[in-house]
Amino acid sequence: MSILDSRATLKARIDSVAEVAGYLWQKGWAERNGGNITVNVTDLVDGQMRSLPALGAPKRVGTAVPHLAGQWFYCKGTGKRMRDLARAPMDNGAIIRVLEDGLQYEIVADREVLPTSELPSHLLVHDRMAAKGTPCGATLHTHPIELVALSHSRRWLEKDAASRMLWSMIPETKAFCPRGLGVVPYMLPSSVDLAQATLDTLEEGYDVVLWEKHGVFAVDTDIMSAFDQVDVLNKSALIYLAAKGMGFEPEGMSDAQMKEMSAAFGLPK
Ligand code: 13P
Ligand code: ZN
Repeated sequence: MSILDSRATLKARIDSVAEVAGYLWQKGWAERNGGNITVNVTDLVDGQMRSLPALGAPKRVGTAVPHLAGQWFYCKGTGKRMRDLARAPMDNGAIIRVLEDGLQYEIVADREVLPTSELPSHLLVHDRMAAKGTPCGATLHTHPIELVALSHSRRWLEKDAASRMLWSMIPETKAFCPRGLGVVPYMLPSSVDLAQATLDTLEEGYDVVLWEKHGVFAVDTDIMSAFDQVDVLNKSALIYLAAKGMGFEPEGMSDAQMKEMSAAFGLPK
């Protein structure tokens, strides 16, 4: 028995997480348990779900998320593999609800699978969106090879250097990731400091942030769109790498060509 049985819309949302998890594995971005996904499912919770008992004792989020009191999420389980989640999302993740204190959560279904160790980053970002009245659908952390490689160079860690270069590789990157890629300096994985820096950098006005020598963190209305943002950025990194492999530094679109794009598509930067 699964909570998804006879809940078609909830199942469809979790299935989209499983579909993206499969893409992450196919792309080579999800070695072992690498990466995590959190998706807000509060709008799909029914009365029967609300009366379900918790599986185990309440657990601490690790940071305060007052605007998420009473909200429900599907989270990848810590230590779980994306390639396993793609086949069996409810064995490799769980549905949780944040308690009224905004400090703790309970696991509700299907099994007591502990959420990702990066839960503070995920929930802090969801919390800020909720505070602004734009509850966000999905947050994604993954390890895209070429973007992580870029983050090993001081040159690309300079403010907006990677973002500008990636935008200039192909017009679509600016169109579909219009606020670009922010940078968070190296910090301990799963730490609250990393979570706070991720939130602060997104708040500066970026779609995705690059965690130095680790991965990326993206936020969007749904998990497929969050994946698309990372995919277009990494595609640009691949074009850059292909040109370098052919023995030259790619020219990139000019500033004038990028300005023209922004004007034509009404882009924010
Ligand atoms: P989890 O298995 O706890 O989700 O951690 C994976 C990861 O990528 C940590 O940064
Ligand atoms: Zn990671």
